[in-house]
Amino acid sequence: MSITYRPAREADLERSDRLVVASINDLTRRHGFGPMATSHPPAFQMFSPKDDADGLWVAEEADEILGFAWSWVCCDLWFLAQLFVSPDHQGRGIGNELLKRTFEHAKKSGATNRALITFTFNTVSQGLYIRNGLSPRFPIYNFSVWRELLMGRLQGPQFRPVSLEETAADLQKLANIDARVLGVSREKHHRYLLNDRTTRGAALYSGDECVGYTYVSTGGHIGPLAVARPDALGSAFTTALALAAEIGSPRVTAFLPGASEAALRIAVEHGMRITLPMLLMSTRDFGDWTGYLPRNPGFM
Ligand SMILES: CC(C)(COP(=O)(O)OP(=O)(O)OC[C@H]1O[C@@H](n2cnc3c(N)ncnc32)[C@H](O)[C@@H]1OP(=O)(O)O)[C@@H](O)C(=O)NCCC(=O)NCCS
Repeated sequence: MSITYRPAREADLERSDRLVVASINDLTRRHGFGPMATSHPPAFQMFSPKDDADGLWVAEEADEILGFAWSWVCCDLWFLAQLFVSPDHQGRGIGNELLKRTFEHAKKSGATNRALITFTFNTVSQGLYIRNGLSPRFPIYNFSVWRELLMGRLQGPQFRPVSLEETAADLQKLANIDARVLGVSREKHHRYLLNDRTTRGAALYSGDECVGYTYVSTGGHIGPLAVARPDALGSAFTTALALAAEIGSPRVTAFLPGASEAALRIAVEHGMRITLPMLLMSTRDFGDWTGYLPRNPGFM
């Protein structure tokens, strides 16, 4: 039976999430990291079809989903949030075919830059992306620390956090910071986060000046976090660590770009350990990654 490629429907998203989890765990087990992914309701994927419908694709054979690809676009940035092929069907050209279809999404929306975050230890994904014009830029590490350990070590200057709301004034502040640090507006993604009950957003103030923002999830995960000027990153990250510790989840985690020396230094000083090395790849350089911490490899 031949493989068909078709746009993903909402009804496919739970099945494709199971495929993604199986594919990640197969990969991380093979590389000695053990299983790392668990299933979650595909909330961000569900949100995407509303304005990024062209970015979701499945590969199917005899009613079985063998591959899933999902990209989103913000201004001229196209981002590949997920590309996963079922472990038993890898190496058959499915990933390449799905990638071609999501590239159409980039072309159609006029995006001039293409980016993604992949596993540093996956030679196949990196080879596939290099073949398709994306180059490695810098590592992004997932760091983790037990909350108890972090509580005993919290130190360093912090900003004043003020809860973010989905108001025109707050969205404008977020847009100004994103324009400086990423060069694109992510308004729709902020609206998504501000409506996510498992996530809290805070604007970070130095006196009366809004110098950045951070989100912290109920699971103790930090990100995205961004600052309007790179010298604010250290205090912003320390504030985020304190906010994450306050939540009470047993672990505090964050994705830290290798480009951000301040974030890496503070993570190590607070007892954080690298749990997963990842890599940013793109068709050209973009953003100031000394001032931005992504939420995860799919959200960026
Ligand atoms: C990465 C993944 C999506 C690729 O899909 P796939 O269907 O297995 O890949 P394809 O068969 O379409 O293409 C594989 C290509 O990778 C490249 N490749 C494979 N091994 C390589 C290596 N060691 N060095 C360089 N390039 C390599 C080749 O270009 C190869 O194509 P070719 O054999 O025609 O030359 C899939 O393997 C997967 O799901 N892996 C686990 C999860 C993952 O890492 N996903 C990416 C998240 S961003």
